[in-house]
Amino acid sequence: MSKSYHIETYGCQMNVADSELVSAMLQKAGYQETGNIEKADAIFVNTCAIREHAEDKVHSRLGFYNKIKEKKPSTIIGVLGCMAQNLKENILESKPYVDIVLGPDSYRKLPEMLNDRTAKSSHIVDTKLSRFEVYDNLFPSRAEGVNAWVSIMRGCDKFCTFCIVPFTRGRERSRSIDSIKNEVLLAVDNGFSEITLLGQNVNSYDYEGKKFHELLKEIAQIKNVKRIRYTSPHPKDMTLDVLSVMSSYDNICNYVHLPLQAGNNNVLRRMNRTYTKEEFIKLSNVIRDKLPGVGISTDIIVGFPGENEKEFYETLDVMNEVVFDSAFTFKYSSRPGTKAAEYDDHVPEKEKQRRLESVIKLQSEHTLIRNKKFINKVELVLVEKESKRSVHQWAGRTDSNKWVIFNKKSEKIGDIVPVYITSAHGITLQGKIQKIQEMELVS
Ligand code: SAH
Ligand code: SF4
Ligand code: F3S
Repeated sequence: MSKSYHIETYGCQMNVADSELVSAMLQKAGYQETGNIEKADAIFVNTCAIREHAEDKVHSRLGFYNKIKEKKPSTIIGVLGCMAQNLKENILESKPYVDIVLGPDSYRKLPEMLNDRTAKSSHIVDTKLSRFEVYDNLFPSRAEGVNAWVSIMRGCDKFCTFCIVPFTRGRERSRSIDSIKNEVLLAVDNGFSEITLLGQNVNSYDYEGKKFHELLKEIAQIKNVKRIRYTSPHPKDMTLDVLSVMSSYDNICNYVHLPLQAGNNNVLRRMNRTYTKEEFIKLSNVIRDKLPGVGISTDIIVGFPGENEKEFYETLDVMNEVVFDSAFTFKYSSRPGTKAAEYDDHVPEKEKQRRLESVIKLQSEHTLIRNKKFINKVELVLVEKESKRSVHQWAGRTDSNKWVIFNKKSEKIGDIVPVYITSAHGITLQGKIQKIQEMELVS
């Protein structure tokens, strides 16, 4: 009888992609996925260490898995990913029920380890980071949906002082263009409409001298790739070449994620972000100039050690200057092992909360300003899923990455349809499907 596994994923899209790789390996080894965690022979959790809150969630899940194991002691529990890398000692000391601990570069060993595990009874740990592992020639077992995540590079060499990623994921390395192209071809054959190229520093891609814009161009030329996205780029590596390729191919989405982090030059320097406030604003203007109608989103951290009130206001200034389409906003979370964790001028929690609230409030005003510009226009929307509000409505995204809700007609998931935008509320747009003749009248 075949054995079953259950996998839960926390953290960024790179973890989602890695869980799909792990699933493929487990299935090859004769395991079958089950949604029923209580019945699974093996439970895996792919973890994230980016903020304390992310780790807390995993600790509480582990407590739950332990309860299952108490009832069914044969259950194997495996901790994968960034926390495994970072917290292996802690996990092994305080959570003896965990059987397997594997860091992000050790997944190939999983099937073999599962075999060993059933034979022996000790913990199995492998968190060695590799300078080469890119999981070439392993095709992920993808979840259903319209989007296929394709990992193009791994690791990060930027060492922003707040960030744990360079320690959990190791050195930057890129995957060959051929191997990426093969994976994209397969995803298209399997019916995926959208391809998202992934990397912690996706635009510092460099495979034997081939840069990110060259890869992007090659992917855009693959037949039947309807939409291409990529995440996350670093502002420092955002080149005119990338923008030029983006503007030349209709299937590359008109959307850039441009993480600001903070608006004051002193804070940016202490974060080791390698750009100034002025350079960032200039770059966002160049992007808007080269890619009319582009959606720009960002990441913002409030309360970095030593950030004073005046410096924080400069983050709001940059937001007012750029008017982002959307933002992921975070309170600084101290990560042991990073440089910033050693700074002794930490901002009090209450103050961080206050700053976070003002950033969120300002961003919601900006999102509405940006979204309202779409009213009375026709946008091409990829039908992604049924809307949560009604079984009669679809939810899909514009190529500038805005969610649109509209009534169903005869289209199906995966189609790209023209939608006339009627209103904007909160973070979503509402619209109605446009017939082709009507579209010509409007545009
Ligand atoms: N490589 C990407 C994203 C990294 S993680 C980039 O450079 O943009 C996603 C976001 O989490 C970061 O952009 C940052 O805003 C946030 N983040 C990272 N470390 C953090 C920390 N210690 N505390 C709070 N937010 C953090
Ligand atoms: Fe972390 Fe900075 Fe690397 Fe992004 S670029 S993963 S924020 S160290
Ligand atoms: Fe988290 Fe690791 Fe991604 S720390 S954000 S899962 S690279």
